[in-house]
Amino acid sequence: MKVLVVGGGGREHAIIKKIKENPTVTEIFALPGNGGIAADAACVDIGAKDIEKIVAFAAENKVDYAVVAPDDPLVLGCVDALEEKGIPCFGPRKNAAIIEGSKVFSKNLMKKYHIPTAAYEVFTDMASALEYVNTCEIPVVIKADGLALGKGVIIAQTREEAVDAVKSIMEDKQFGASGDQIVVEEFLTGPEVSVLSFTDGHTVKPMVSSMDHKRALDNDEGLNTGGMGTIAPNPYYTADVEKRCMEEIFLPTMNAMNAEGRTFKGCLYFGLMLTPKGPKVIEYNCRFGDPETQVVLPLLKSDLLTVMQAVTNEKLSETPVEFKDEHACCVVLASKGYPTHYDKGFEITMPEEAAKTTYVAGAALKDGKLLTSGGRVLGVTATADTLKNAITKAYTLADSIHFDNAFCRRDIGARALKAQTEE
Ligand code: AMP
Ligand code: GLY
Repeated sequence: MKVLVVGGGGREHAIIKKIKENPTVTEIFALPGNGGIAADAACVDIGAKDIEKIVAFAAENKVDYAVVAPDDPLVLGCVDALEEKGIPCFGPRKNAAIIEGSKVFSKNLMKKYHIPTAAYEVFTDMASALEYVNTCEIPVVIKADGLALGKGVIIAQTREEAVDAVKSIMEDKQFGASGDQIVVEEFLTGPEVSVLSFTDGHTVKPMVSSMDHKRALDNDEGLNTGGMGTIAPNPYYTADVEKRCMEEIFLPTMNAMNAEGRTFKGCLYFGLMLTPKGPKVIEYNCRFGDPETQVVLPLLKSDLLTVMQAVTNEKLSETPVEFKDEHACCVVLASKGYPTHYDKGFEITMPEEAAKTTYVAGAALKDGKLLTSGGRVLGVTATADTLKNAITKAYTLADSIHFDNAFCRRDIGARALKAQTEE
């Protein structure tokens, strides 16, 4: 079986390594993949947003199954285009991917179907937005409507910051057309939990919960990043919370999308905040999270490709999705200066032992050498019987990997460990 994976980051590397475990898989293409992914798949120089070329490549190479992993191609309709050519896919169609593609859509959906989320207002003109933020409660959260590389959210701690945020999104178009509309919402507090789920429109099967670490520096300081590390399961996500989330959030969301004629099939990601008033949705993503996938998939006991195909064929209810009773920790190695300015082109070396569970995000092959090509370079994951052991193992692996200017947070999992001991 020939499988095509659209994308080229650490998440895609984790998906590819897992798909490779299926014995019927003969070939995996990564579009575009990266220098690290090249060890596990044939990388083809076609960008993840170049839908015409992706479809042409898939048809020409008689691909049997396609996995569209990143948000951009999903929101642009890559799955629709592949399906039109008769290629079965994992991932939502365009009309369902809007759940991530438009925050105005997702907030209105939650309001209409009584799914718990932060109170909010939508603005399409700047004057009304400014008037609102000049009187609303502070802190306040300001979000560009569309995709903004995960950067379209500003938490304003003062009124001045709120005014600046509105202006930078709506006047200076910091995020381009994504900022034509904004959501201004209530600031919530509480631990954050990421829950990825498989859904085929009939059944939702949540995966093991996880915790991201979004800030660049230890103790959650520094700038927001694409994620500096993850652990799973998330200790704040107790059995009680899980039950509430299923009843109040997961099933209602699946049903709401069906009721809107936008059946969601694929991986639906719930970004949750466990507030004093119960779990609330911070955001939906229409795809696997990065770097959550790098801890969730190593814990998946069931065969990933089988589960994905069950989603496509709407047979998820009869397909087991089981996780190991273990813990995982992923530590991201980045280039010094990330997420702002950093140098590239440094050679990466790693022992065989680390390579097995290393998921490369930003590296290119040149003359047989693997060179850094991005800010977040790779993530290395360890699994173990306890969270503490998983963390220790992940750092031992991380410390065995070398490239100039490498840095990582030293406290991935520390907060989770503390929460565990407080329980
Ligand atoms: P998002 O891109 O929507 O995941 O938002 C990025 C981060 O901003 C989240 O992970 C939260 O930490 C934070 N955030 C978003 N919305 C809120 C909110 N209403 N209250 C507090 N924090 C928020
Ligand atoms: N880790 C958050 C995301 O993938 O959007």
